[in-house]
Amino acid sequence: MELLARQHKEETHMEILIVGSGNMARGIGLRLVRGGHQVRIADRQPDKAADLAAELGESAAGEVLDSAAGAEVIVLATPYEGSLEVARLWADQLAGKTVVDICNPVDFDTFDGLVTPPDKSAAQQIADAAPGARVVKAFNTTFASRLANSTPLDVFIAGDDPDAKKTVTGLCLDADLRPIDVGGLKHARALEAFQLLHMKVQDQINGGWTTAIAFTEA
Ligand SMILES: NC(=O)c1ccc[n+]([C@@H]2O[C@H](COP(=O)([O-])OP(=O)(O)OC[C@H]3O[C@@H](n4cnc5c(N)ncnc54)[C@H](OP(=O)(O)O)[C@@H]3O)[C@@H](O)[C@H]2O)c1
Repeated sequence: MELLARQHKEETHMEILIVGSGNMARGIGLRLVRGGHQVRIADRQPDKAADLAAELGESAAGEVLDSAAGAEVIVLATPYEGSLEVARLWADQLAGKTVVDICNPVDFDTFDGLVTPPDKSAAQQIADAAPGARVVKAFNTTFASRLANSTPLDVFIAGDDPDAKKTVTGLCLDADLRPIDVGGLKHARALEAFQLLHMKVQDQINGGWTTAIAFTEA
């Protein structure tokens, strides 16, 4: 994996727009900047975007949430409802672009169910809202606290567009993360359910929101 990551780093240098400037924007932003990429942070509150960009360093810039123009990859680091809203608003400009959905559409009152329709994932709803976008589900099982440090992590990836999945796979390798391709976007619902359980048992396992779902060797 190390060799693959090094080769990928030499080949590509991408401009990535992260929507939102919260915990996950910070965690993913830190990883991407360390991976050698240019990161734009876009928030409804430009001050918050600027603050996070300053923390990420010279390869990052903050902006008001306005346009995806120029970005090759857009990461929706927003809550489920916000991600759907951005997908609807930007449907035209997301066409042809790699759009990374990281959200967990969880009932946060009970941690006992998903709030999506029974036959759909949030990722599929986002793909429906922005039909030309190349939607990839990724990062929904990685807690922000773990992304922000340098520990190895598994990132489960689901999507129907092979090129978009290749792009996200490359970004993970650059960021010293292990990408695991679980198949088409239809599997996003399983990833969302997977993380629901991970969140639900945090107290039981004394996890402190720092645990990680990983496949390990015996
Ligand atoms: N935290 C984790 O460990 C973790 C792990 C895996 C996946 N996730 C998922 O990652 C996503 C972000 O989580 P987070 O913990 O980073 O949340 P957060 O810290 O609350 O940050 C959310 C960001 O989204 C923005 N936002 C909210 N509603 C919006 C809307 N309608 N339009 C545009 N921007 C909007 C907020 O902007 P304002 O400042 O303008 O309000 C804020 O910058 C969620 O979907 C979550 O399920 C989180």
